[in-house]
Amino acid sequence: MNFSDEITNWYNANKRDLPWRNTTDAYTIWLSEIILQQTRVEQGMPYFYRFLERYPNVAAFAAAHEDDILKLWQGLGYYSRGRNMLSTARLVNEQYKGTFPTRYNELIKLKGIGEYTAAAIASFAANEAKAVVDGNVYRVLARYFGISEPINSTKGKKLFQETANSILNMEHAGIHNQAMMELGAIICKPKNPACGICPVNTGCYAFLNNAATQLPVKLKTVKVRERYLNYFLITDGDKILMKKRGMGDIWANMYDMPLIETSEMLTPHEVLQLSEAIEYFGTDAEILEVSGPVKHMLTHQRLKVNFIKIDSKKIKLQQEWFYIEVENLKKIAMPQIIFIFLTNIFTFKNNFPFSN
Ligand code: ADE
Repeated sequence: MNFSDEITNWYNANKRDLPWRNTTDAYTIWLSEIILQQTRVEQGMPYFYRFLERYPNVAAFAAAHEDDILKLWQGLGYYSRGRNMLSTARLVNEQYKGTFPTRYNELIKLKGIGEYTAAAIASFAANEAKAVVDGNVYRVLARYFGISEPINSTKGKKLFQETANSILNMEHAGIHNQAMMELGAIICKPKNPACGICPVNTGCYAFLNNAATQLPVKLKTVKVRERYLNYFLITDGDKILMKKRGMGDIWANMYDMPLIETSEMLTPHEVLQLSEAIEYFGTDAEILEVSGPVKHMLTHQRLKVNFIKIDSKKIKLQQEWFYIEVENLKKIAMPQIIFIFLTNIFTFKNNFPFSN
């Protein structure tokens, strides 16, 4: 048996029963693949069900309001995925009359769909002979073939794609791709791979050379940026002061509170003396309570967040600021760190977003 037959047999006997595997509907597959980008299966699953229930087809998705998509997306991170999905759904609904494309060459033109996602949708929905290369596949290939070229170098990316293409089962691309990813997810794991029960261990370079922990190789490139966020908690009766964020960053169009970002850690008193704070809150704002600094990691950012509860008689409302009843907070989309903070102080009645 060749490599593809070995892993396909293993897959058929051992695969997890995941809901997006029981369909060839390109819309449903697209939904699952976007949710699963940078998200673990267990974390993505409840979001997948919720989205599919709320938006059972591309026309329903296209008719959604961005605020609702962001709210449903809350807690998944990488919020541009949700925003891109909406523009793609609208375009598909118009240009393709609501039928999601299944050809790689059409899919790759759509916003939020790169080479991996286009190959996944085209092969799962229509068996098009395109090999997927995601993190799982990089690991399987690097170990099996002993490839030490970094997976994030230009040369490496090309080499891994070529290698994936060379072992693709051209008649059964969909199941072959699923099997590659499943092998990476449950046998050829990043740590403690289960080489003893791997269906292709007899031909595996890393198994035979005890090199699984050294492969794949990845170049360390990105620097982590430190950011200091000072959020102001201002209440008026049963209302709280919130703002809608503008475009242009990871939390674009979501809701948070009045914020002053500083280039270093300042005490709440020092923050209140900044000219920006005086413009917003006057000179005699009183600090009632402080919580923080709370540390929060994003992909390329390390946030240190202070929450400062103040009382001020002279708040100058900015254009994007508004008061909202505390009980309505649960309806608007917030960065997860804000949601957790507000949940802790106000104890919302429902438990969305999912806690796992
Ligand atoms: N991760 C990304 N896509 C996936 C899929 N189709 N099945 C399992 N895990 C995945």
